[in-house]
Amino acid sequence: MIRIAAVGDVHVDKDVLGRFRPALEELPKQADVLLVAGDLTRHGTVDEARCFAEEFGGLGVPVIVVLGNHDHQSDQQSRVAEVLTEADITVLEGEATVLELHGHRLGVAGVKGFGGGFAGACASNFGEREMKDFVGTTEVVSQRLQEALHSVQVDALVALTHYSPVPDTLLGEPLEIYPFLGCYQLGRAIDSAPTALALHGHAHHGSERGRTPGGVPVRNVAHPVIKQAYNVYQLLSEDVDLQLVAT
Ligand SMILES: [Fe+2]
Repeated sequence: MIRIAAVGDVHVDKDVLGRFRPALEELPKQADVLLVAGDLTRHGTVDEARCFAEEFGGLGVPVIVVLGNHDHQSDQQSRVAEVLTEADITVLEGEATVLELHGHRLGVAGVKGFGGGFAGACASNFGEREMKDFVGTTEVVSQRLQEALHSVQVDALVALTHYSPVPDTLLGEPLEIYPFLGCYQLGRAIDSAPTALALHGHAHHGSERGRTPGGVPVRNVAHPVIKQAYNVYQLLSEDVDLQLVAT
């Protein structure tokens, strides 16, 4: 059994320091790895990245993250990623990483993702150059996720994004902003591989549970949605009832 702790949208700045740490200190007793689904910081500054590293680093379990749109706000995403990497936090953007846990190989493929919308209400690659650029970004990042998912041979494969791959977990958000919260292309990438679980954030007013068209369980782990420091999901559990149960 592999136990995956996950949260997103923690938006760490100086005033947040210490808020998550007590629960994180307990994390190694409950989970084998922590995945953070982007929006680690409030405005994507290097100082905030240092605060995130202080709050979420050195846990005693591997910490794997993707960046979110907030982490791009100051155009310092490369420096933000460097600060995190120096703190032994794995930052994924179109890559996958493999962990050996309890004799199993866990693969995590991550990408920030982008908006674009979902079937019947999505942006299309037509018209103005600006619209083609927008949809082009959606397609490029989704393709990167697909390639990352296919780049590893593992026992359990997890997709980690900031933007949502499905509309299900946006339930509670205004319909009008769905195209800015995720895109169907991420879901298609997830369905193209033997993905066991897809985790995302970004939709603070959404809901936790959803499924891709291909049946892959999706969980929105945005902190305002799960309302705790992290949820724990179990993969490769012999007890089917325990699988994907948030504890
Ligand atoms: Fe976000």
